[in-house]
Amino acid sequence: MRVYLSILCFVAAVSYAASEGVLFGPNTWAVLVAGSNGWWNYRHQADVCHAYHSLIEKGVLPEKIITIMYDDIAQNSQNPKKGTIINRPDGPDVYHDVVIDYSGKAVTAKNFLKIIEGDEVGMENIGSGKVLKSNENDTVFINFVDHGGAGVLGFPSTLLKAADLIASLNKMSKSNMFDKLILFIEACESGSIFDGFIDHLPNVFVSTAAAGDESSWGWYCDDKKFGTCFGDLYSINWMERLDKLKTSESLFDNYNAIRTKTTKSHVQLYGDYKLGFLQQFESAEAEDEYLEEYPESQKEHKGVDSRDIPLYFARKELEAAKEPANIILKKERLEKIIESRGFADNLISKILKEYTEGDVVSQQDLETKRSKLNMDMFSCYDDLLTAFGTDCFSIPENTYIMKHLYKLANICVRDESSVKAVAAIQTVCLEEMQAINRLDFHIE
Ligand SMILES: *[C@@H]1O[C@H](CO)[C@@H](O)[C@H](O)[C@H]1NC(C)=O
Repeated sequence: MRVYLSILCFVAAVSYAASEGVLFGPNTWAVLVAGSNGWWNYRHQADVCHAYHSLIEKGVLPEKIITIMYDDIAQNSQNPKKGTIINRPDGPDVYHDVVIDYSGKAVTAKNFLKIIEGDEVGMENIGSGKVLKSNENDTVFINFVDHGGAGVLGFPSTLLKAADLIASLNKMSKSNMFDKLILFIEACESGSIFDGFIDHLPNVFVSTAAAGDESSWGWYCDDKKFGTCFGDLYSINWMERLDKLKTSESLFDNYNAIRTKTTKSHVQLYGDYKLGFLQQFESAEAEDEYLEEYPESQKEHKGVDSRDIPLYFARKELEAAKEPANIILKKERLEKIIESRGFADNLISKILKEYTEGDVVSQQDLETKRSKLNMDMFSCYDDLLTAFGTDCFSIPENTYIMKHLYKLANICVRDESSVKAVAAIQTVCLEEMQAINRLDFHIE
C-alpha cells in the first residue's frame, strides 16, 4: 500500500503533545547499521558514518550511539582517498571519529537483534559489547541501511527476517525499553518488512525508503575515480535536510520534504502516526530556517537502481577501457555479471516450474503477482530461504537474488506447508549447481 499523507499537511501544524521530547537529543539511544560489505556497497557505510555525525550535531550523546558496520571501506584497496569515506562528491570525510562498536564478522542479524533487545550477556566478548540500555522514558532511533527483498533485510552473510525483527520490537516494548521507537530503513522493498506488521505496537514509527515492491536507489554515483556510489537517495535526503535545518521540524514535515526529493521510490510511513508530530531536535533559536546549502545540487547527480549498480559500473569501466587487453578483461567481467544474473533468473523460474509441476498458469501467477506478506507465512518462508541457501547459494552474499524472493514468499502465502517447495528447491539446486563450481559462484 502506498501511503500519501496529503491530509496530514493540514494537521501537521498541531504540535506533538502525547509526551515531551525530541527525536534527537540527550535522552535518545541510537543504533546505526550498515548491513553490507564490499566496495560496490560503499554507500551503505558512508550513510551510517554520516548519520553518526548528524545525530551528534543535533544533540545525541556519542555514548548512546551503537554503530554496526563491516568497516572494509576506508582502508579498501580500491579507495582513492585511503582512510576516508565521503557521502557526497567532494564531501567531507565522515569516517573520522566514528566509534565502531561491531565490525567484520560481528555484523550479523542475530547480533543486531541481541543489541536492540539489550542482551548484554549475549554480546559478551563480541565487539565493544555495547547494547541498548534505554528505559521507558527514552527515545530509541534505529537506522538500517542495506539490501533487502520481500520480508528480509541483508547482513553480510546472514538474513534478517521481518518476523524476527517484529518479535524483537515486541520484546523491547514489553520490557519498557522505549517511550518512542523510530526506525528509518533504507533498502529495496523495505516497505514489505513493516506493512501490516506493527499496527498493534504503540509508539513505534517507521519510515522506509521504498514501498514493498520497489528498489531503493544509490545516489552520487561516481564512475570517474571511485567506481561506486557515495550515498543512497533516501538516506542522503533525510540527513542533508537535517544537517541544514537550524529550526526543528516534525517527522511529518521532514517526510513531506524528503518524499518529493526521493524521486525514484516512494518513501513510506508505518506504525503509530501520532509520533509523526514529534520534533526532530531542540532548536537553539528561531533564526533562519536553513544553514547554508551544500555547493552542489543533487539534480546534477545521477542515481542508479541499487540492484543494478555492479552492472552499471562494469559497463562504465568497459566504456573507459583503452588498452586492448584491458578491454577484453572488462568485457569478460561484464559478461560474467550478465551471465550469473541470467543463471539466477533461470534458477528461480525452474524452481517455480518444478513446484507447480509445469502448470504454466500457476507459475505465472507466482512470478507476477505479489502477495501481501503475513506473520503466519514466515515459518514456511524460513524453510524455503534456508533450503535455497543450503542447496543453491548464499542469498545475503549474492544480493541480486533478493529481487526474486517475493516469488518464494508468494508460495508460502498460498501454501502453508513448505514440504513441496523445499523438495522443488532441492531438486533444481542439485541439478543446476552441479554444472558450476558452487563455492566459486558469485553474482554481482
Ligand atoms: C521515567 O520518568 C518518570 C517520571 O518522571 C519517573 O517517575 C520514572 O522513574 C522514570 N523511569 C526511569 C526508569 O528512569
